[in-house]
Amino acid sequence: MKGKILVTGGTGYIGSHTVVELQNAGYEVVIIDNLSNSDVNVLDGIEKISGKRPAFVEADCTDLDALRNLFEANKGIVGIINFAASKAVGESVAKPLLYYRNNLDTLINLLDLMPQYNVKGIVFSSSCTVYGEPDENPVTENAPIKKATSPYGNTKQISEEIITDFVTSGAPIKSILLRYFNPVGAHPTAEIGELPNGVPQNLIPYLTQTAMGIRKELSVFGDDYNTPDGSCIRDFINVVDLAKAHVIAMERMLEDKSEDKIEIFNLGTGIGLSVLGLINAFESATGVKVPHKIVGRRAGDIEKVWANPDKANNVLGWKAETSIEDTMRSAWNWQNRLRERGLM
Ligand code: UD1
Repeated sequence: MKGKILVTGGTGYIGSHTVVELQNAGYEVVIIDNLSNSDVNVLDGIEKISGKRPAFVEADCTDLDALRNLFEANKGIVGIINFAASKAVGESVAKPLLYYRNNLDTLINLLDLMPQYNVKGIVFSSSCTVYGEPDENPVTENAPIKKATSPYGNTKQISEEIITDFVTSGAPIKSILLRYFNPVGAHPTAEIGELPNGVPQNLIPYLTQTAMGIRKELSVFGDDYNTPDGSCIRDFINVVDLAKAHVIAMERMLEDKSEDKIEIFNLGTGIGLSVLGLINAFESATGVKVPHKIVGRRAGDIEKVWANPDKANNVLGWKAETSIEDTMRSAWNWQNRLRERGLM
């Protein structure tokens, strides 16, 4: 057994896939999650895939005492992967304090406790949102950080700065900041996936729910962008591929392979795909039609952004491997599983 890793937000979408990969790689996992945007049954899915049930603490990471109790009860945690955060762009505009408190207090609490409990490294779940509308694509890690267009995006920028300041102050920790592009899909076993609350705001859950007939049609937000087909372009990265990068990042810190105490990596495929292109990919991969119509632009959307993943490819030795077709099939299988379970 390798070291013990604390995964905050470990029953969530990206968190649960990462827990599976950590356990498959031989790590012992402790999850903390307040279940605000996930379900405790996700633990069953994780156990079915990996054969191991992670330790689970239902608590809020903004609660410093609860976190302290967790570290006391689970001695020997060597690393943290921090997924515990609110992530809905629109909601963050309506409830900024909720986002600042939740996302920043969580991080500050974790950092505060790391030296006290000899935790060596923290992987932070950041986003390509820090690049805003990039001046050029594909985007490297050296692209300028643009002023955030939402409180959610701002929490990612501020979090990166908080970690950097803390490490620069001489704190005895390391960190790897992973900037995700657009994570999509589900585990190929369809045991875990994304569980959106209410009407989905993100493209893929809305698309699969439309394909299932739960939603009448998918609105494509704008076809008058400066892109080949007029719809926005994103870098859709398979969630299992993404999860695997976290295991490599953790290993890198624990085995002292990092070149700096803080490292930043883009996690994307390097391929820009338009919203209409993605709908096509889904339809050809699954044979299922997605009724859709073009509507006006969504406020705050970026026109086009995709990653230059060379640094992650070359330095981490990680590469996004899953084809968009397999990813779309996994999203569709997961949607069908939700239907079987009577959840959708
Ligand atoms: C946003 C955030 C990103 C965050 C991600 C997951 C920004 C700029 N981006 O990404 O940081 O990690 O959410 O929460 O803060 N679309 C439609 N119809 C729909 C839904 C979406 O056409 O019903 C389009 C959007 O206009 C966009 C693309 O699909 O062009 C992707 O949208 P979405 O899945 O919401 O992700 P982002 O906005 O790219």
